[in-house]
Amino acid sequence: MRLAPSILSADFAHLGAEVARVASEADLLHVDVMDGHFVPNLTIGPPVVASLRRVTDLFLDCHLMCTDPIRLLPAFAAAGADSCSVHVEIFPDPTDVIDMLRREGLGAGLVLNPGTPFAAVQRYVERVDLLLVMSVHPGFGGQAFIPESLATVREARAHIDREGLRTALEIDGGINAATIGAAAEAGADTFVAGSAIFHAPDPLAAARALRAAAAAATPVASLPGEA
Ligand code: DX5
Ligand code: ZN
Repeated sequence: MRLAPSILSADFAHLGAEVARVASEADLLHVDVMDGHFVPNLTIGPPVVASLRRVTDLFLDCHLMCTDPIRLLPAFAAAGADSCSVHVEIFPDPTDVIDMLRREGLGAGLVLNPGTPFAAVQRYVERVDLLLVMSVHPGFGGQAFIPESLATVREARAHIDREGLRTALEIDGGINAATIGAAAEAGADTFVAGSAIFHAPDPLAAARALRAAAAAATPVASLPGEA
């Protein structure tokens, strides 16, 4: 499993220190980019990614909750993002945006909101590095996990395994010590957690506990290529 702390719940005035604090338990760093239009919240963009790039080697997993992400991709690539994920609700046919992500040298991810059926992305999963299933309606950290998202995770896991794909299956929203086990059992392999880590009194210990809870629940011992 891979843990992706979401800096959305970190203290932006001390972002470098917040990242350093959890780095030893982080496999990726999840960067929530909100444009105040696709979602009703406004967060951060390429300048913050560039600042993070200077202080960490962690994989920067950028989740673009933006109406017009294509316009932003060159700036994210230049800032040092490792991958960008775009919402299928914006791109019913994501072929062109996937090609653009590749041209920019970025990892490519597709995101499904709660309520968007897996069928909306099924034929594109083989073309991307990451499929992100939202388990809250995007826009804010600290929301309650939507259990219906697990059916989408299960469907995605079955497809990825049946087709022998290497696409990572990430879940994002409401992940904490009480929910991560169900997400792991459903087949997620990459877990975003914001408030459960950064609002904890000891973020590093919280991250460690999440990892342990996911590992204890994972039905398959390992994924291809993982120890
Ligand atoms: C929500 C974001 C999430 C958010 C998760 O729109 O996409 O990544 O940071 O926060 P928690 O883990 O607190 O639900
Ligand atoms: Zn996110």
